[in-house]
Amino acid sequence: MKVLGIETSCDETGIAIYDSKDGLLAHVLYSQIELHQEYGGVVPELASRDHVRKIIPLIRQVMDEAGLSKEDIDAIAYTAGPGLVGALLVGASVGKSIAYGWGIPAIPVHHMEGHLLAPMLEDNAPEMPFLALLVSGGHTQLIGVDGYGEYTILGESLDDAAGEAFDKAAKMLGLGYPGGPAIAKAAESGTAGRFTFPRPMIGKPGLNFSFSGLKTYCLNTIEDCVEQEGPLGEQTQNDIAFAFQEAVVDTLIMKCKRAIKQAKYRRLVIAGGVSANTMLRERLKTTMGGMGVEVYYPRVEFCTDNGAMIAFAGCKRLQADGASDQRISVKARWPLDQLS
Ligand code: KG4
Ligand code: ZN
Repeated sequence: MKVLGIETSCDETGIAIYDSKDGLLAHVLYSQIELHQEYGGVVPELASRDHVRKIIPLIRQVMDEAGLSKEDIDAIAYTAGPGLVGALLVGASVGKSIAYGWGIPAIPVHHMEGHLLAPMLEDNAPEMPFLALLVSGGHTQLIGVDGYGEYTILGESLDDAAGEAFDKAAKMLGLGYPGGPAIAKAAESGTAGRFTFPRPMIGKPGLNFSFSGLKTYCLNTIEDCVEQEGPLGEQTQNDIAFAFQEAVVDTLIMKCKRAIKQAKYRRLVIAGGVSANTMLRERLKTTMGGMGVEVYYPRVEFCTDNGAMIAFAGCKRLQADGASDQRISVKARWPLDQLS
């Protein structure tokens, strides 16, 4: 079964074709980063318009790269939420319309299920059950995965998502958008130990997160430095970036350790944009290795938004549930544990 996947939930147009027999056949990704950079964040209306411009040429490109024609495609999967409604509607209406025209089913996919299953595209895919740490721009969740579609949310952020915290801290530091990669890069030249940020919610029981306090702590640290040194120098920026990144990474790891002890999973999957973070990957691997837990993550390009994860999740959904009806509907908010 060959599924064409379409991802347009935010600022990336991702298109891919996944074959249940031969795996990923082709994928293309167009990032709108340059378009939004001057605004310091994603402008939803600009995002929707750019998806409209790019989606058809990218679908043509991926079909050409895979050497396939429309008769070869069995279904079209598109991201139906959560995300920016205007952006989602571009992928949903194009996906549904092409599917109708080609006489094949269209499958609405949950964006976070896409992220969750992205490591399954790799050669060393994890076996289920596993614990998943989903860390993106909109979500920070610990999820028990007991099978396809069998997801239990064990903990989540009560306020900002980890990626959102990275983006906001980067903005305060004048490091630009997207903030995660910018902070990670600055942190490479940062001095460990010059600043120490708190590890939020560590003293409290449970598996929830809270990152909004770190943002305030970051702002106060910047203000103190400006008061003492004048405008932030590059080294100070790097040192704050290091301390901030380490605090987020440590907090995520401590909660993963707690979840593993509580829920007794032997495998941990990390996915979503923040899972591209090298410090998080390396430290998680070391900590989990010490607990006898294997860590799995997608290749870096499949950590952030992409069409491959949507094609894969769509293929699994179609095999499990069959096709949906003809209505075009998207959801800005959509809890992962409310999938049918
Ligand atoms: O999964 P994603 O592409 O989109 C959402 O579903 O939200 O995640 C984007 C988020 C952004 O907040 C971005 O700053 C963060 O992932 N991110 C990173 C890194 N690369 C992307 N955060 C930390 N370190 C990175 N290397
Ligand atoms: Zn995403």
